[in-house]
Amino acid sequence: MKTIIEPFKIKSVEPIRFTTPEEREAVLRRGHYNLFLVPAEDVLIDLLTDSGTSAMSAAQWGGMMQGDESYAGAKSFFRFESKVRELTGFRHIIPTHQGRAAERILFAILGGAGRVIPNNAHFDTTRANAEFSGAEAVDLPTAEGLDPELLADFKGNMDTDALGRLIVTRGAGNIPVCIMTITNNSGGGQPVSMENIRTTAGICRSHGILFFLDACRFAENAYFIKKREKGYADVSVREIVREMFSYADGATMSAKKDALVNMGGFLAFNDDALAARARNLLIITEGFPTYGGLAGRDLEAIAQGLDEILDENYLHYRIRSVEYLGERLVAGGVPILRPPGGHAIYLNARKFLPHVPPAEFPGQSVVVELYREGGIRSVEIGSVMFGRNDARGVFVPARMELVRLAIPRRVYTQSHIDYVIEVVLECFGRREKMKGYRIVEEPPMLRHFTAKFAPVA
Ligand SMILES: Cc1ncc(COP(=O)(O)O)c(C=O)c1O
Repeated sequence: MKTIIEPFKIKSVEPIRFTTPEEREAVLRRGHYNLFLVPAEDVLIDLLTDSGTSAMSAAQWGGMMQGDESYAGAKSFFRFESKVRELTGFRHIIPTHQGRAAERILFAILGGAGRVIPNNAHFDTTRANAEFSGAEAVDLPTAEGLDPELLADFKGNMDTDALGRLIVTRGAGNIPVCIMTITNNSGGGQPVSMENIRTTAGICRSHGILFFLDACRFAENAYFIKKREKGYADVSVREIVREMFSYADGATMSAKKDALVNMGGFLAFNDDALAARARNLLIITEGFPTYGGLAGRDLEAIAQGLDEILDENYLHYRIRSVEYLGERLVAGGVPILRPPGGHAIYLNARKFLPHVPPAEFPGQSVVVELYREGGIRSVEIGSVMFGRNDARGVFVPARMELVRLAIPRRVYTQSHIDYVIEVVLECFGRREKMKGYRIVEEPPMLRHFTAKFAPVA
């Protein structure tokens, strides 16, 4: 059949609240035009993030009742450990409360002043944790990954020539680990090919550098490999996942994405000495090694979610529904980052609002307008998040001005997505009337979360 349906029935529902245009205007004013400061109850369709926002299955909720909450050696831990080991093949599986806790432990051991950590593109918490350890975080995206219009299959890839040059200029001894983020979130949710994973792993191995996957969206990446990479059409996603992990020495994972849970993560690798150090750090801030920062019921839900995510009917529906949103927006003339990624559509706000200069935050203007028009919450990924003033106080814009519409897993149906399309097209139709914003108050770091804005007069 041509129609792709949600591969699930809905057993439990949560009402969403409709607001009037006047109410939304008041909400925007109270939240200082920052959607992070808007109560979730006032949002109709929440596309702020795909992280921790999945709907759990009946089997996951059932599993939570089976959670073994023993402090040490809980049955739920062994179920979680064997599931992660079956998928990744790694010897040591260390549960953490979310992805950034795994990153903090890893970089506390491998990072430090004088160290360089390459990545196809660091996610913001990965960069922050590497830098917090004193290390330098270096992004090595390919040129095609930086072109928002270019249609290519694997725009998330690492520039392996640039990795080779970095090793020569900085010295392999100063590069303790190289990370590959799958899919590449900061690069638009774009996938990484198996060939690129294999090549990067080979370079790292030949220089004695550890190679880790940042594996939050490993299943979405594997599905793209199946659909796009030569030789994988007839290979199961489960086997593709095993092959991806087989090239790596370890992985960090935020289970809040492709493990279909609301909280959780892990660190996994083979090295015994590294494991002993990681477990010592784990005990100080996360917890005993058989629960990390998680309850037994969370470990059950992750184990179950890691199986469900590999259902190819689910992955087909997931990737296709994001693509559908992208196709309909492109058909309406809306500029987006192409091709659509695995978990989100990114509107190209610089093209959407060419009359709003980066210093007046075109992305923020689009974010506000989507809420004003239809109660949709999205997030600016542009000069609010990454712009800065240099030492002379001169504004330096972000490389791109994007607005991310992240799609929570198994939460919204096609009619919700059709509504989103209608709202975006409505805003796009009157884009010439949209104005920029200025920041009236901002914190010293990570300003996008709490900055206050006002419309430019
Ligand atoms: C690629 C990537 N790495 C790491 C993280 C951090 O995970 P967490 O939010 O669970 O700390 C995220 C979260 O969005 C991510 O997208």
